[in-house]
Amino acid sequence: MQVRHLSLANYRNYAHAELVFAPGMNMLVGRNGQGKTNVAEALMYLATLRSHRISQDAALIKAGEDSAIVRCRLAQGEREALLELQLNRGSANKALINRHSVKTRELTQLISAVLFAPEDLMIVRGEPATRRSFLDDALISRHPVAAGAIADYEKILRQRNTMLRDFKHTGRSANSIDTLLDVWDEQLVEMGSQIIRHRRMLIEDLRDPLIQGYFSLVDQDHQPTIALMESVQETLGVSRETSGVVDVGASVSRETIAEEFRDALRLVRGRELERGQTLVGPHRDDAVLQLKSLPVKGYASHGETWSYVLSLKLALASVLSTDTVEGDPVLILDDVFAELDLGRRERLYAAVSGYEQVIVTTAVEGDVPQGHEWHTIRIEAGEVVAIEPVVTQETPDQSSDTDE
Ligand SMILES: Nc1ncnc2c1ncn2[C@@H]1O[C@H](COP(=O)(O)OP(=O)(O)OP(=O)(O)O)[C@@H](O)[C@H]1O
Ligand SMILES: [Mg+2]
Repeated sequence: MQVRHLSLANYRNYAHAELVFAPGMNMLVGRNGQGKTNVAEALMYLATLRSHRISQDAALIKAGEDSAIVRCRLAQGEREALLELQLNRGSANKALINRHSVKTRELTQLISAVLFAPEDLMIVRGEPATRRSFLDDALISRHPVAAGAIADYEKILRQRNTMLRDFKHTGRSANSIDTLLDVWDEQLVEMGSQIIRHRRMLIEDLRDPLIQGYFSLVDQDHQPTIALMESVQETLGVSRETSGVVDVGASVSRETIAEEFRDALRLVRGRELERGQTLVGPHRDDAVLQLKSLPVKGYASHGETWSYVLSLKLALASVLSTDTVEGDPVLILDDVFAELDLGRRERLYAAVSGYEQVIVTTAVEGDVPQGHEWHTIRIEAGEVVAIEPVVTQETPDQSSDTDE
């Protein structure tokens, strides 16, 4: 798929901007703080309904304004679609597809994009929550059903936690809370087991492309791996003497996953009532990332960590391009080339340039691989100051054709 046109109104530092993109390689150039990441974020927001920088929408709306609009014209082969999102400070966000009102979540089904950004290093270095976000953003891009399950699970979890906290503070009778929790547990298990199952399928599908992606960047076999550490398995493991790391290759039915989740919740219920929070479920899971059979975090060099993270994103791009009807996802590389040495810049360029559309941002034009043609958009202080399309040279053969 391709982004043809992006309009921003009162989004971050953009009062009003029209950005025209081309198929193939696009470069967004602007000095620090001019609004490059804001463009990347706006596109990713349409694709996942989340920002990679903040968890509250308020900062997305231009300071002093009440609402922002992100409008995007997309092309999938011959078909075009117009996506529009209105972010409102005081009320619910609104979405339109081809000028018809839709649920915001429906936008994510039409646009598929993968962001590569310096913040991705946190997938390795950060807390488990960053790894869960990586997995969940991938699920949202992949399966509309999973996107629904994630949103519902988060809602049920919040309500269940509120109830556990209330119980802790008011000390209602254990019998009454037990009956209530049984009802909540069923809903948590219903949504949670869908998430667990989709995450396992994702991890399995990422495995080979991760190895290929890493090899394409580094040209060495450091055996990059990704596995799931599930809190349900960890909890059950205490009695079964297994670790929480899941062998995703083993096919497991949704019923089994649900049954195990239920068992784990039963095991921790006493502790949950004491602590006043939900202690087991996909919200406590983690991904185990390794190179050369050692954790990437704490062992791998800076360059190896970068290569691992880029390979993970390349792997995701490859999975999305094979399994979504929209075709290739749009790849967005925010300030990534500047972080790499010359060799890896060229290798990354080679790994992404076969995709239908790539949007690269950079503060310094010389940081992107040289000797290639770029559709260039220049921005300054939230304004587009120039759009320089790639000039296609007419070949001598073509001109002689027209003469005939
Ligand atoms: N809600 C908002 N209202 C107005 N301005 C905002 C808002 N949110 C962010 N900004 C401004 O947007 C600018 C940052 O834009 P962005 O992060 O896209 O920069 P960038 O071009 O990616 O810079 P860098 O090269 O440093 O990464 C900052 O100047 C910031 O003050
Ligand atoms: Mg930036």
